[in-house]
Amino acid sequence: MSNIKRIAVLTSGGDAPGMNAAIRAVVRTSVYHDLHVYGVMRGYDGLINGDIRRLEARDVANIIQRGGTILKTARSNRFETTEGRKTAYDNLVANDIDGLVVIGGNGTYAGGLQFMQEYDIPVVGLPGTIDNDLYGTDYSIGFDTAINTAIEAVDKIRDTADSHNRIFFIEVMGRHSGFIALHTGIGSGAGAIFLPEREMNVEDLSESLRKSAKRQKLFNLVIVAEGNKSGETNEIARQIKIMNPEFDVKVTIIGHLQRGGFPTAMDRVLASRMGHSAVQALMRGESGTAIGLINDKITFTPFHDAIHKRKALNEELIRMAEILAM
Ligand code: F6P
Repeated sequence: MSNIKRIAVLTSGGDAPGMNAAIRAVVRTSVYHDLHVYGVMRGYDGLINGDIRRLEARDVANIIQRGGTILKTARSNRFETTEGRKTAYDNLVANDIDGLVVIGGNGTYAGGLQFMQEYDIPVVGLPGTIDNDLYGTDYSIGFDTAINTAIEAVDKIRDTADSHNRIFFIEVMGRHSGFIALHTGIGSGAGAIFLPEREMNVEDLSESLRKSAKRQKLFNLVIVAEGNKSGETNEIARQIKIMNPEFDVKVTIIGHLQRGGFPTAMDRVLASRMGHSAVQALMRGESGTAIGLINDKITFTPFHDAIHKRKALNEELIRMAEILAM
């Protein structure tokens, strides 16, 4: 066991639904173990600004159901500088903080890794990103909510697409990975999915659209991952229209809607388990560890692997999506 007495928690990078549930779990597990716990405002920027406040169990009441993050978040450029990290460390020392829980994505882990390598401070990470692109966990906090939001949006678009016999290209988030697109595509019964992980030919799509139109089965929903390799969604749609002037083509970009809203039950439970485990990991003396969940078991992956190893999409799911879109 370590001698940790005071830990701080922050959220960094893009917010994700369920971050509040994770903060609540970190705070309450710490209080349960008689640790003092502090919230850092606006991610690593708050560490540099010394915007650090004590949190008690009651301070995290009534937040498990809320999207966003009560601690606010930021993508900090200053923390990438030597001076920024030095000031951040001085602020931790000034508050006698001896352990840090960081909740976020790849950049958050990278910042945490560099910080703990330079200074004598244990850091444990929780995967908080809608993209689900972090190695070392089946699911990240926020992913389930984001795909449910996206699927709900696509269901609504389907009604109007179907009524008008229009083809909709619907762009979803995910940065460089296609988890949101693949799951949204499968869950909404889309006719095709453009993924960053797969080359997809616009001519081939055009051909399939023509074939299906001939069969009187115009498949009208195409999900496009923002990071796909064929180009911007508007451009793909434009090319399809040029190849098939008779088609009525529309584009919808779901955008930041995917980042907000009440976290689903799955995200709340996931975040609670992970937040609870992060405190226990710090108490055991772990550092540089990303908490994950694989096959329903909590796992611990070195930051280095979580940052540098690529989490692959499930090829079987990709193949299945193609078959089911017939
Ligand atoms: O990482 C989460 C995410 O929503 C990505 O899917 C997206 O590419 C990016 O953040 C958008 O970032 P911002 O909110 O800073 O525009």
